[in-house]
Amino acid sequence: MTVTEALKARISTRAFLDQPLTEATLRDILDAARWSPSGGNLQPWKVIAVSGAAQEAVKQLVRNYQGPGMFPDEEGAYPVYPANLWDPYRSRRYKVGEDLYALLGIGRDNKPGRLKQLAKNFDFFGAPVGLFFVIDSRMGHGQWAHLGMFMQSVALAATERGVASCFQELWGTMRTTLKAHFQLAEHELLYCGMALGYADSAAVVNTLRTEREPVDRFARFHFD
Ligand SMILES: Cc1cc2nc3c(=O)[nH]c(=O)nc-3n(C[C@H](O)[C@H](O)[C@H](O)COP(=O)(O)O)c2cc1C
Repeated sequence: MTVTEALKARISTRAFLDQPLTEATLRDILDAARWSPSGGNLQPWKVIAVSGAAQEAVKQLVRNYQGPGMFPDEEGAYPVYPANLWDPYRSRRYKVGEDLYALLGIGRDNKPGRLKQLAKNFDFFGAPVGLFFVIDSRMGHGQWAHLGMFMQSVALAATERGVASCFQELWGTMRTTLKAHFQLAEHELLYCGMALGYADSAAVVNTLRTEREPVDRFARFHFD
């Protein structure tokens, strides 16, 4: 598989087979991803991987946390999106959500149905492994970008090995509880989660294909 093929093959997988992902395979993925670049070679990333009983313990945290119909709210100073998101970003976000729910036959007024689908995040969509990406909260925008490069490397190295993934910022809404659970140091900040495993290719949800803007919409070429 070429890098370009991996870039195009990686999608957000939201239904997984009940098939274990071995620690050896995960180590192999991370062993490839650690070659990601970072400014000053800071390598400002840490990863926590949970599977089996450890993953179950995390899911139990969510169950304990949630009151009926309630979602965690621990984003703190790092909200998933800026307030009052503006176009074109707002429309893009809206579209991917609507496309997902339409695919699943969950109507616009079916709020319980939408929340139920959203809540599957906290089950890692049935994936056998969950990852959490951690950064030092004293780091600046550059290091956040470098963490993002590392995360994409994880996803691509996984793809190359036939392993499917879904990044999960929603876990950031549990970051205070998870910080205590994993006994993170004072400045360690849990940014994002990731579901990792083998895709259930029969699941309708995994047929979602998102769009991207063509190159000329985001790049300017001064070549003359
Ligand atoms: C950092 C990051 C966090 C994300 N968080 C979530 C999430 O919490 N739940 C979810 O279902 N999808 C999440 N996504 C998936 C995005 O919705 C998805 O990447 C985007 O719509 C493009 O689709 P694709 O990944 O299939 O190409 C996240 C993606 C990224 C990069």
